[in-house]
Amino acid sequence: MSKPLTIADLKKLARRRVPRMFFDYADSGAWTEGTYRANEEDYSKIKLRQRVLVDMTDRSLESTMVGQKVSMPVALAPTGLTGMQHADGEMLAAKAAEEFGVPFTLSTMSICSIEDVASVTSKPFWFQLYVMKDRGFIERLIGRAKAANCSALVVTADLQILGQRHKDIRNGLSAPPKPTLDAAFQLVTRPRWCLEMLGTKRRSFGNIVGHASNVSDLSSLGAWTAEQFDPRLSWSDIRWIKDLWGGKLIIKGILDEEDARAAADTGADAIIVSNHGGRQLDGAPSSISMLPKIVEAVGDRIEVHVDGGIRSGQDVLKAVALGARGTYIGRPFLYGLGAMGKAGVTTALEIIRNELDITMALCGKRDIQTIDRSILANTSF
Ligand SMILES: Cc1cc2nc3c(=O)[nH]c(=O)nc-3n(C[C@H](O)[C@H](O)[C@H](O)COP(=O)(O)O)c2cc1C
Repeated sequence: MSKPLTIADLKKLARRRVPRMFFDYADSGAWTEGTYRANEEDYSKIKLRQRVLVDMTDRSLESTMVGQKVSMPVALAPTGLTGMQHADGEMLAAKAAEEFGVPFTLSTMSICSIEDVASVTSKPFWFQLYVMKDRGFIERLIGRAKAANCSALVVTADLQILGQRHKDIRNGLSAPPKPTLDAAFQLVTRPRWCLEMLGTKRRSFGNIVGHASNVSDLSSLGAWTAEQFDPRLSWSDIRWIKDLWGGKLIIKGILDEEDARAAADTGADAIIVSNHGGRQLDGAPSSISMLPKIVEAVGDRIEVHVDGGIRSGQDVLKAVALGARGTYIGRPFLYGLGAMGKAGVTTALEIIRNELDITMALCGKRDIQTIDRSILANTSF
């Protein structure tokens, strides 16, 4: 394939290079995948106003997210098992994000550890926290994120229990892959991936292994999550985490106005309107369709960010127009990583920046910070 021009091009390449169980892990949603599809489809329903004969020179995409400068309002979302899309995936993606001037968010369920990522970056990255029953482990994890100089903590609220994703069950997803005939077939057909994976020692959950006690079966993500994640997590735990952390706090996985108000009451710095990329509650509305209502409810009290279904810079602009201060991409950067390693993550960011910049200009605007609903042709969305 010639140089990838779209996120869809990167997805095609990743499908060829990444073993099926890990490609499918990224390209999957819960149950019917209806919410996963809606996240993408609903962006195409939003139409832009074409403006002409206005000055389009000297454009700027610079903005801030939780007070931190970003070269465009797009962060890399936390994604588990990223080091299985490509060897040392989290370290590569973090470096690409740092060079690009956008935040990288490391998942609790990453392959490379907090310390691994800190060892290859020079600017602070963000850390995403899943809350487990073992609060001692959570305290140590937060301590490690502080020691690594992470500049924001993203607490994920929408995964107290794991949604069911059929592909993962059928593929027997595990990290590292279990020695089955099917897994062996998937690996031999991806020799480059295997070679690169043989060249790293990072093949399991770097933040957990050797740090959490009572880890019985970590290779089976589903079983481990069911055993360790805290289904009793509550708003009072968020206050406990906020005090413990003491820095910028972002609550991820808000899809309801009432929950948004409760999140604002905690004094957190931002919320992410998100349905976990359609991977948790299938049948929930798309995140972009909920954004305006949530901005209306709490936009004057807390920064509102959004993720889910962003596949182009146009989608980023639409989200900003509907009131998002920041956006996140999950699968787009994973496809880039699987396709071409660090260069693929950079390519994904470049594609999005280029689309965002040209679209903003053709809407007659020069500064992302001035974008509002006036650039939309159908504001009733
Ligand atoms: C493969 C994969 C793994 C994910 N793992 C995590 C995770 O560990 N923690 C988390 O908060 N969200 C996780 N998410 C959700 C993302 O942070 C984000 O909400 C979602 O990917 C956004 O949708 P998009 O992929 O359409 O951009 C994951 C998403 C994907 C696709």
